[in-house]
Amino acid sequence: MSREMFRQMSKPVSRLALVLFVALVLLAALAAQQTQSAQQATPPSYSAIPVEAAKQANPVKSSPESLARAKKWWTLDCAMCHGNDGNGKGSLAADMKLKLADFTDPTSLKEHTDGEIFYIIKNGHQDMPPEGDRIKPQENWDLVNYVRSLAKKPDSAQKP
Ligand code: HEC
Repeated sequence: MSREMFRQMSKPVSRLALVLFVALVLLAALAAQQTQSAQQATPPSYSAIPVEAAKQANPVKSSPESLARAKKWWTLDCAMCHGNDGNGKGSLAADMKLKLADFTDPTSLKEHTDGEIFYIIKNGHQDMPPEGDRIKPQENWDLVNYVRSLAKKPDSAQKP
């Protein structure tokens, strides 16, 4: 192939390749942007809970004292939605037409670690308002123990 021939052939070919390449990159960027905005449109899910927070162990033992401390906050801040006994049928939940889990059902919180429940109480979730700094961390752990204690025990076999 002569030099001249090569120049004539390769130029348009490389230009076409460049155009195609740029078009591909633009398309990929557009597609990435679209999936990103689709993700942003959906409400945050429990998967947003940081792994470190979910793994945090409960430093407060579930004792009658812990549950008694938690009852105060439960009555003040939680029962209007989750119901006094945790069945999810509080009056505010009814007003807001919320569908809440029944904490008296032992399976309802099974999937959540103590750390996750702590995080949900602290930061809120969707229609649930955050407790934030209104309660001390220890009182938050008391509440974790409390919501767990609401489950009806089908038999006396309880985890330690
Ligand atoms: C305004 C009503 C409201 C109040 C008040 C409220 N919650 Fe909730 N709570 C919700 C809603 C709604 C959800 C479910 C969030 C969702 O669907 O993503 C929820 C979820 C939870 C969960 C996670 C388990 C689940 O069902 O998904 C726990 C645990 C919980 N709440 C405990 C509490 C505690 C403890 C308090 C008091 C400090 C409290 N909540 C106060 C509305 C409320």
